[in-house]
Amino acid sequence: MDLLTIKDMQEEFMKEVVELAVGLRKEGNRARDDLRGKVLISLYEKPSTRTRLSFETAIENLGGHCIVMDFKSSQISRGETMADTARVLSRYCDVISARLFRHTDLEEIAEYASVPVINALTDVEHPCQALADMQTIIEHGKDKGKLVYVGDAANNVANSLMLIAARYGMHVVLCGPKDFLPSSEYLEESSKAGGKVEVTDDPSYAVKDADVIYTDVWVSMGDEAEKEKRKEALKPYQVNDELLRQAKPDATVMHCLPAHRGEEITGEVLDSKQAAVWDQAENRMWAQEALILKLLK
Ligand code: CP
Ligand code: NVA
Repeated sequence: MDLLTIKDMQEEFMKEVVELAVGLRKEGNRARDDLRGKVLISLYEKPSTRTRLSFETAIENLGGHCIVMDFKSSQISRGETMADTARVLSRYCDVISARLFRHTDLEEIAEYASVPVINALTDVEHPCQALADMQTIIEHGKDKGKLVYVGDAANNVANSLMLIAARYGMHVVLCGPKDFLPSSEYLEESSKAGGKVEVTDDPSYAVKDADVIYTDVWVSMGDEAEKEKRKEALKPYQVNDELLRQAKPDATVMHCLPAHRGEEITGEVLDSKQAAVWDQAENRMWAQEALILKLLK
């Protein structure tokens, strides 16, 4: 079994992974040997801090081992295909994770690998982030509430988040300027999931009675050519004290990180007691432990 998107992840399996992640964090045991002798190969075409380190610590905590390969130092940079790379990697490891630009490249790896393949972020989705985010929302007691995503609501993080939150029955609101709203495909999928899903370009309307406010960078990796246009269009969508005041007084603020302080979120909000961002970062490790355990056992 692979994990390429939340969209294609079976709901029951998804909820089992999140539940296990909550349990693993509670237990707090970072010296298990469930996966002794198992190897994860982690591929990177884009930069990463959290994903790379949380995958490495997750497999090490379980008694296994991680090998990281970035595209620049591999033969992929000289034209070896994803398919051939996947076939070779499968001979060395038990599970592959990959962070890529094109989602179709990930699908090619999954097609030719004989071991499970995990999406460590593509331009379409960031499912591992969503698993850790849902874990965080549950731990903060907000999983029955209203979640508002403000900013570039058409990006990978927004896609995975809206789907997972909708599947947990949350009231989900996606808020951004009209060129930065989710595709009809993702909107339809999340509406089908059960929760109430809304789209708006009005941040004040969106955050009214919000239990969770989520944002992400305005310029995702690969969007650099549109940097100025994006910053201009998204300026009214900054998560700042004024916006936060319009939500519930104890609203939780979330961000997958890295944050660009002063752009999508102010330093004051990020450093405030309402921010759950460091829990989210930690939970990447527990959620990926849970995922790898479920995939390999
Ligand atoms: N949130 C996240 O995926 O961070 P990195 O880009 O540092 O991996
Ligand atoms: N949307 C961001 C997420 C980074 C973790 C990006 O793709 O760059």
